[in-house]
Amino acid sequence: MRTCLVLLAATAAFAQSQSIQFDATRKVWLLTTSQSSYAMGISPEGSLLNLYWGAPLWRIADLPAAVQRRDVSSFDPRQMLENEEFPGWGGPRYYEPALKITRDDGGRDLVLHYVSHRQQQDTLDITMKDIRDDIEVVLHYQVFPQYGLLRRNATISNRTQRPLTIESAQSAVWNLPAGDGYQLSYLSGRWASETQLIREPVHQGEIVMESRKGHTSHYANPWFAIDNGNASEENGPVWFGALGWSGNWRITVEQTAYRQVRVTGGFNSFDFAYPLAPGEHLDTPSFYGGYSRDGYGGASRLLHRFERETIVPGGLQSRLRPVLYNSWEATTFNVTEAGQEALADKAAPLGVELFVIDDGWFGARNNDRAGLGDWVVNPKKFPNGLKPLIDHVNKLGMDFGLWVEPEMVNPDSDLYRAHPDWVINFPGRPRSELRNQLNLNLAREDVKEHIFNVLDKLASEYNIRYFKWDMNRSFAEPGWPEAGAANERKLWVAYVRNLYEILDRLRAKHPKLEIEDCSGGGGRIDIEAIRRADEVWTSDNTDAFDRLRIQEGFTQAYAPKIMSAWVTDVPNMNGRSTPLATRFLVAMQGALGVGANLNKWAPEDFALATKMIGVYKRIRGTIQLGNLYRLASPRTNDVTVNQYVAADGRQSVVFAFRHSQQYNTAAPTICLRGLDEKATYKIEGLDNKLIEKQPVLSGAYLMNRGLNVNLRGDFDSTGVILEKQ
Ligand code: DGJ
Repeated sequence: MRTCLVLLAATAAFAQSQSIQFDATRKVWLLTTSQSSYAMGISPEGSLLNLYWGAPLWRIADLPAAVQRRDVSSFDPRQMLENEEFPGWGGPRYYEPALKITRDDGGRDLVLHYVSHRQQQDTLDITMKDIRDDIEVVLHYQVFPQYGLLRRNATISNRTQRPLTIESAQSAVWNLPAGDGYQLSYLSGRWASETQLIREPVHQGEIVMESRKGHTSHYANPWFAIDNGNASEENGPVWFGALGWSGNWRITVEQTAYRQVRVTGGFNSFDFAYPLAPGEHLDTPSFYGGYSRDGYGGASRLLHRFERETIVPGGLQSRLRPVLYNSWEATTFNVTEAGQEALADKAAPLGVELFVIDDGWFGARNNDRAGLGDWVVNPKKFPNGLKPLIDHVNKLGMDFGLWVEPEMVNPDSDLYRAHPDWVINFPGRPRSELRNQLNLNLAREDVKEHIFNVLDKLASEYNIRYFKWDMNRSFAEPGWPEAGAANERKLWVAYVRNLYEILDRLRAKHPKLEIEDCSGGGGRIDIEAIRRADEVWTSDNTDAFDRLRIQEGFTQAYAPKIMSAWVTDVPNMNGRSTPLATRFLVAMQGALGVGANLNKWAPEDFALATKMIGVYKRIRGTIQLGNLYRLASPRTNDVTVNQYVAADGRQSVVFAFRHSQQYNTAAPTICLRGLDEKATYKIEGLDNKLIEKQPVLSGAYLMNRGLNVNLRGDFDSTGVILEKQ
């Protein structure tokens, strides 16, 4: 018995130290993270089949070899019963393919079989090839053992002597254990109503989430979570994934007739045609996947930590997000040197650290009808350029940020008059304007260079710490005449790649420069966009009540650290008024900003704002780098409660909001999470609404008995800070 235990321990330690194991005899892989395992095998005929995805396994010998199934009927071929890792569209396969091609002779059958593999530490590349010709696909797997995540994508190469066209190129297929009763969570929405969390049953057929708009889009976000139908916020198995692509993307969730549940994602195959000449290749976007036993909250926390530490610029080394002021809602296009200086004078004493002037500082930009594209300082508004304002802001102890929308042009602009051919268009067809603007075609090398040079010049000339990079319309008439008919649909991919390149070059040349990713609010948020953004503009909707749901959805997939949230004036876009304290507490759950018209504030507003910003600076390490527990959802409750626990467990912060009290009902007791049962915590209410008056409470009491807050009427709110003793 004793020997047996020792052996077990030794084997477990060995397994833990290896994120990728391969059993050469049975041709089986086991990929393991702290939270999950993922297994694949090669069938006798050479198909690469998924064998498992779920809670961690440690013993590769437990896994069966991949077997070749038998046809069930002439309508139910074996190919439909196998969980292929990356099925080509070929043979009798009727589900979503991972790759679909057309050869120059019209041949479209593609059957991928294993050729070889290469493993290096945490990465595994498996080379597959068509059974007849040299169309090669390398499947890339990267294991992030400590983050509980896998990254997958594919490189498709034409090694034949003839051209071919790719019609669908996916990053990965994620196979869940076959079964019924699954539930899908996804994020949908529209402008000013982004990241609305939807939950619905998975059933036979296909659910499609996608963007056809050229950018990630407000309509849907490339993230999914699937649970077994019984998971809750903090319990139960959840399989989840996030795709990194800021252009047209597509994720399908399919349940086949055989109860297989497959999630396929990558480039949107709609209007997709990517020619590959001999020797050329195409890389598909990264698709990250994970599994958590700790419900949706557990899944989100895995993504948050991964993003904070490995995706956002600087990762672990990146600074805490500063408190910013943005002038947009105060002045709209009406920016002047004196007006901005007056706002800066009022913002600095509040504790603001970054002052951002928004749209309207350049060209003939007095409204949204003219000037986009002409990135020269408007001499009437800033007779001496931006330097005096920037110096003023810097002297007040704040960094300076500037709004830009580099991908766009108003037809009424010098740039468009000089280069009407630089926009996306189909010759002879209308050029649909949205917000009076057209998309510059970033896929063109000359346009890409022009945009880089404009931004590089601004960043070199002025002491700019931060660009708010906006993008205020979706594509229409997506033509690229200069590329020629055969190649012009490459635009969908080339545009996004060039956007990434500009951002990467800019950051490399100006290492201190930070970028806010904005697309009319949250129209371009995905894991590859945030690799280049220090924070993102979550939504143009800054109504505090609406934000509770937008932020709930946002934090399913993305870290609070990058979730820019402003306090603005009321009544807001719904005509609703919420107390200033509530607006602060909502915004303090992410990267806090102020976007109000400070010229209209009363002395008591300044006093409250100064206090709240002071509190935020005390707790922002916990908000931005801690663990988030969504204790009560705005979708299902009359209260929303969120709790953040610092990574070292020393501080925790609770935010509670009452939406609309009825029948004099008390707000529910709040049982906290993530604390140390044995420890005691000093309790500090931010106002007098905490019913418990004990100055110190144990973790056990806080988590099991809970806190009570006296929240009354409409849009009441409170915050509680806990310090571990
Ligand atoms: C849309 C953004 O989301 C707003 O915050 C603001 O920057 C405007 N564009 C300016 O045009």
